[in-house]
Amino acid sequence: MRRRSKYLLGGAAALCLLAVPVCRWQNDGLMLTRYTVELSGLPEELDGMTLVQVSDLHSKPMGEGQELLLNTISQAKPYVILLTGDLVDGRRPELVPALELARGAAALAPTYYVTGNHETSLPWETREQIENGLEAAGVVLLDNRTEELSLPGGGTMVLTGLCDDNLGDGTLERLSASWPEDAVTVLLAHEPQYIENYAASGVDLAFCGHAHGGQIRLPLVGGLFAPGQGFLPKYTAGIYQLGETQMVVSRGIGGSLFPQRVWNRPEVVAVTLKRG
Ligand SMILES: [Fe+2]
Repeated sequence: MRRRSKYLLGGAAALCLLAVPVCRWQNDGLMLTRYTVELSGLPEELDGMTLVQVSDLHSKPMGEGQELLLNTISQAKPYVILLTGDLVDGRRPELVPALELARGAAALAPTYYVTGNHETSLPWETREQIENGLEAAGVVLLDNRTEELSLPGGGTMVLTGLCDDNLGDGTLERLSASWPEDAVTVLLAHEPQYIENYAASGVDLAFCGHAHGGQIRLPLVGGLFAPGQGFLPKYTAGIYQLGETQMVVSRGIGGSLFPQRVWNRPEVVAVTLKRG
């Protein structure tokens, strides 16, 4: 009996020891997720170009992982880098990790940012500090703005960003009125559950985050919970389509209220465009 208890205790101790690196790997084992998206009317110059998305850092101190994060972005050979909100966590608003990522990204490729719900929850002076820091790092703020990328051989790609305060109101419709008719339109918006609004405005390709992959991912089920969508959320990771609009949802890098990811490793997303 005593020997059996000894074995049980030994087994439990071994499981605990194993659980620590497994949990760390689930939270910190960064991966590069690649998608190819076909877009009709894509200018020839953009065929094969890659857009890289980094989302939901949530002030995560990357430490030695910072080099891996930047190498992962660089490995995807980004044409542009899209930061889709919640770089800074609303509960512990540490700016340093966000600014380190911003500086590193902007040194690799033109980098664009929209605010997430965590940043909009912060006092105005903190939001101003974030925005000033990002601009000083060389990042273009895209809240409720449009930038047109004119391509050397003709054709236009439109990058539009929505501030998290304006995802469901008429801001996108207003912005879309100025898009050139034949341009490919790319939207940065933090939350994916407004896909109907994105599709109604004629967005070709939207980039979102916010769902953190549903936090815990189970085979055949997918993510279990996402803010704004509740339990068994619809939009947590991957590519979704509504009408002519395709929407990429990143599982993001960090976490917020719930500290552990399960079968839901952090990711950098790379989307390669193809003429459809
Ligand atoms: Fe969020």
